[in-house]
Amino acid sequence: MAEEHLASTADLPPDVPQPNIFPLSWRAESAQVAKLEDIWKSSRREYWDPEALAWSTFNAEAYSIEQREAMAYWFTLLSVFDASAPPVFARALTRTYELHEEDAVRRAFFSIERDEQNHEQFCGMAIQRLTPGGPLDREPATDLGRRAKRNAAWLYHNGGRYWNGYSSALPRYSLAVVFSAFLMGETAAATLFHHMANHCEEPVFQEAFRHIGRDEGRHMAICLTLMERDYPKLSPEERSLVTKQIRAGYVFLSGVLFEPPEEFWDLPDDFIATQHEIEEVARSAGFGVASYDEKRDNWQRAMLNVKGVLDRYDIPFPAIPEIGIAGDEVGDIRPEDIIPIF
Ligand SMILES: [Fe+2]
Ligand SMILES: [Fe+2]
Repeated sequence: MAEEHLASTADLPPDVPQPNIFPLSWRAESAQVAKLEDIWKSSRREYWDPEALAWSTFNAEAYSIEQREAMAYWFTLLSVFDASAPPVFARALTRTYELHEEDAVRRAFFSIERDEQNHEQFCGMAIQRLTPGGPLDREPATDLGRRAKRNAAWLYHNGGRYWNGYSSALPRYSLAVVFSAFLMGETAAATLFHHMANHCEEPVFQEAFRHIGRDEGRHMAICLTLMERDYPKLSPEERSLVTKQIRAGYVFLSGVLFEPPEEFWDLPDDFIATQHEIEEVARSAGFGVASYDEKRDNWQRAMLNVKGVLDRYDIPFPAIPEIGIAGDEVGDIRPEDIIPIF
């Protein structure tokens, strides 16, 4: 018989080899648990359903086909970040179980997972109503739509590279370092959705952006709470990893918050010019995409907020000359350095 049957020879089983995926414990030890429990409660109170949005008020025909294609492109760009969020956070959630994290921390990650699934679902619903068929399969109706589809294909190519890098990188980092990367993403997301909620004129989109912005604010609060718990005891090596992760976050998230830098992003030469044209058409539809200057200012403000957090823990900030922030040089960012999540 190949399999051992220990129960017939021993009164109690041997110790389970560790680390084991599930903890069978519900630790609540740190001073931050109370705050995490409050955030958990608000995540349940503020839960929303993408299907219950006021879709009945939405009339795609009110927009020209070019405007529809332009708005669908923006949601596609967003999806490169938001559609990777559920699998990416699922990995992080699994990690909290492997590490036998406190019960409230596991639930915090679960709440993020559930929210991100909503964000992804909403992107899909918006694209499907604007341009039925999906960004990579549908036949575009206009010249701009054709160029938008080509841009989308390149964005998707980069999203795939991000996923490969993330999957291989995550197990190498402590959860504390991972929080700094997540904080970047959550700060970026909160910034973007607050802008869109305030500038987009289509009521159903506005409503969704308000919900998503509030979710992202909660995710930010989770990261900040965990940093409060773990950052006072960071090792010097972890500190420099955090500095590098902030720069990685800037590089990766600039793809949606600002403009994709050449570092990491593998895109054709006319990509940005095409995107500007598309954004202009979306703006003419009252979609409220930020202008170049607004994006730069929003992103700079968001990065300075993150800097304020790192300063509190005496962690050096990376140089981000693109938006006028001086700091430590961290060298080139490679795909396997990139673990931020949107
Ligand atoms: Fe999100
Ligand atoms: Fe988020």
